[in-house]
Amino acid sequence: MGLKEKQAYVQLNNGIEMPLLGLGVYDMHAAEAVQAVRFALETGYRLIDTAAMYGNEKQIGEGIRQSGIPREEIFVTTKVNNTDQGYDQTLRAFEVSLHALGLDSVDLYLIHWPIKDKRANTWKAIEKLYADGRVRAIGTGNYLLPFLEEMGSYASIVPAVNQIEFSPYLFLKNEWEYCREHKICLQAYTPLLRGQKFNDPRIQALAGKYNKTPAQIILRWAVQQGISTIPKSSHPERIKENFGIFDFVLLEEDILAMNDFHEGFRIVDDPMEMF
Ligand SMILES: NC(=O)c1ccc[n+]([C@@H]2O[C@H](COP(=O)([O-])OP(=O)(O)OC[C@H]3O[C@@H](n4cnc5c(N)ncnc54)[C@H](OP(=O)(O)O)[C@@H]3O)[C@@H](O)[C@H]2O)c1
Repeated sequence: MGLKEKQAYVQLNNGIEMPLLGLGVYDMHAAEAVQAVRFALETGYRLIDTAAMYGNEKQIGEGIRQSGIPREEIFVTTKVNNTDQGYDQTLRAFEVSLHALGLDSVDLYLIHWPIKDKRANTWKAIEKLYADGRVRAIGTGNYLLPFLEEMGSYASIVPAVNQIEFSPYLFLKNEWEYCREHKICLQAYTPLLRGQKFNDPRIQALAGKYNKTPAQIILRWAVQQGISTIPKSSHPERIKENFGIFDFVLLEEDILAMNDFHEGFRIVDDPMEMF
């Protein structure tokens, strides 16, 4: 069985394939980041989610090279930093990211946050990078519904991916519905809530029922609904644990029960502060 059968892929709205599960690399640095990426790729991960803001693109590129896995098998995402937004700045920032990664192209380039007065021009620059064949897909980050709706006034291309904070405890139904309607793949960041809900007795009960860990239950919940998810860990045993979600299936009733855990619980800033 090839690796592809051991994990799930989604076809984006421009026809390219993206793994549903990836490794997030926020707050990883130096050798820790290189090793985590290499280990994740050896484990079977094929999507790495970095950002200029994380200051580790160089290490991510190094980890990819050290893994020995062909570049074309790996889906690399990076993002334009808030301080680099604007048309010309974004075009320049992209070259800096590519150079740091040591790659010829990235698979997905995202606007990291919808910066007021700058997001429209930033998006236009990202569209140009796509038109020029520098990136295989483009998308948005932290675009809650009002930001997505506003795109109609400045975007020519519908994003392929929208990466937002999303979990059973922040179950953003309206954003998810909008994304499905417009063929935008929703990608959940901070999917594990940095461990803050692992002790929820309802998650513990599901972990017991399926003989899985709380992290695996929460990640499976996303992937089984076609939601991409990018848990971060720099520990080999957790990187492996988080990948162990393709050998079980949650019952529909359990998925629906988890969809009801919503309580507006956020780890990261509310993007609406930027509207
Ligand atoms: N677009 C955006 O604005 C945005 C914002 C935030 C995050 N992101 C992306 O989303 C990724 C994930 O989000 P996140 O890093 O904020 O949080 P997360 O993935 O929800 O949680 C990561 C934390 O949980 C721990 N952890 C991971 N797996 C675990 C497991 N199986 N058991 C127990 N603890 C575990 C990690 O510790 P160890 O590393 O010590 O194992 C780390 O402290 C980021 O890395 C980044 O790529 C994007």
